[in-house]
Amino acid sequence: MRVLFVASEATPFAKTGGLADVAGALPGALARLGCEVTVVMPAYEEVFARQNLADTGIAFEVPLGALAIPARISAGSLPAAAGSPQPRWLFVGNDGFFGRPSLYGGAHAYGDNAERFIFFSRATMELAARLGEPFDIIHCHDWQTGLIPAYQKLMPTHWSAVAGARTVFTIHNMAYQGSFPGAAMPLTGLDWRYFNWQQMEAYGQLNLLKTGIVFADAVTTVSPTYAREIQASPGGCGLEGALASRGQALSGIVNGIDTDVWNPQTDTSLPRTYSAHDADAGKYAARAALAGRLGHAAPDARPLVAFVGRLAEQKGVGLVLELLHRLAGSGRAHFVVLGTGDRHTEDALKHVASLYPGTIDLLLGFDEELAHLVQAAADMLLVPSLYEPCGLTQLYALAYGTIPIVRATGGLVDTVVDANPDTLRDGTASGFVFTDFDADSLEWAVGRALAAHADGALWSGLVRRGMGQDWSWEASAKDYLRLYQRTRHAAS
Ligand code: ADP
Ligand code: GLC
Repeated sequence: MRVLFVASEATPFAKTGGLADVAGALPGALARLGCEVTVVMPAYEEVFARQNLADTGIAFEVPLGALAIPARISAGSLPAAAGSPQPRWLFVGNDGFFGRPSLYGGAHAYGDNAERFIFFSRATMELAARLGEPFDIIHCHDWQTGLIPAYQKLMPTHWSAVAGARTVFTIHNMAYQGSFPGAAMPLTGLDWRYFNWQQMEAYGQLNLLKTGIVFADAVTTVSPTYAREIQASPGGCGLEGALASRGQALSGIVNGIDTDVWNPQTDTSLPRTYSAHDADAGKYAARAALAGRLGHAAPDARPLVAFVGRLAEQKGVGLVLELLHRLAGSGRAHFVVLGTGDRHTEDALKHVASLYPGTIDLLLGFDEELAHLVQAAADMLLVPSLYEPCGLTQLYALAYGTIPIVRATGGLVDTVVDANPDTLRDGTASGFVFTDFDADSLEWAVGRALAAHADGALWSGLVRRGMGQDWSWEASAKDYLRLYQRTRHAAS
């Protein structure tokens, strides 16, 4: 099976969130199952800062409205275990579009993101056609690549080398749709007649996420629960109709974790690696190292409750703020928050942290190594999301012996089992789950977790079971492979 895998970010080359973790790991897992995988992503400044890319000598011009924009293709590679098959990594370069300090512009999206990703999508088609090998599957991710299924369907003679491929479109987050003024339509090179409510238009705008949903042969999202939620309001973020009408082609496959990167037994960001057998010692060493980084003389004896993630409404950061105001004064726990977000949210966190020095530690910034250290050091991880397509931090927490406290939404439902007398008895309990999106419910769940923490035997049982769970990509990659096979079969 020859797979062209297209994403706008991938670890370790460039990352803003979980999409990068998925695109960094799933191609390798597919390669291990025998797929020949070529990954294509933009050649951002960040990629060049992290890796020496090799020029492939492939260069061409891409029409963008009336302009012709040059694209230059570079190749990269990842360190591979000996004998393990690897994907091929290709990068679409154009300094004007991608030689910038951030991937999308951060809190203030770049004004030309339509141009940038229409260019990227069209350049990927052009590249695929030039590679001279037919692909069976083109697997695209999120709005940045939403045009590719449309190009593949609507311009078959243009890129005949990929005319026989089938397209799979994976949605990682319905809230980011790549919605642009209709005036951007001519940049796509597609006829205006596709700018209608059943195809590329939504609410008067050109919608690239909808375009992918409509034209792909198969549509997936990153958990079965989210696949159901997005076919109705509010989960579908206005595209629930388009999603429901593709209901037959839509499925949910839960993300995995890259066990080469997120594994406490091998993690080089930790002062001491550990497994389920010596989790106490490993986690204590991580705590001591974190305390040192934070300028504390010694680690605090109270349970450590952490939050790691984007400081966005999606992540329930408002509930975290309210929880800190309510609980930090009680002396029952120590809190650490690692994240980045808008100024307003960061200021609100700074304010509450200033009220409780020594109880709340705030780490504002994007720091991969610290994310590993915090996951290892913490006893509990808060994931009180308003919605969560899959969520990876709760899976990392489980692997690191940190008990997740999650809201029952999306992938959090599919990955965390609430600890109650029944699930504790049958050994399925893995965390604490609450339902209503309010601070009372979160506080209640944290209260239950703190009470459980006080029971040493119960807690170490939970930690051991969480660490024993297998969330590696293997099972999910097999699901994708089956989907690829079905999609090809349906086509022939
Ligand atoms: P999302 O993709 O919605 O942000 P996920 O849970 O799927 O959520 O993935 C988030 C990823 O980004 C995880 O790898 C997490 O560790 C990482 N991350 C988020 N915020 C930070 C941060 N401030 N520093 C380092 N890593 C972060
Ligand atoms: C998105 C979602 C997150 C998911 C990630 C990777 O950013 O918000 O829930 O885990 O994509 O699929």
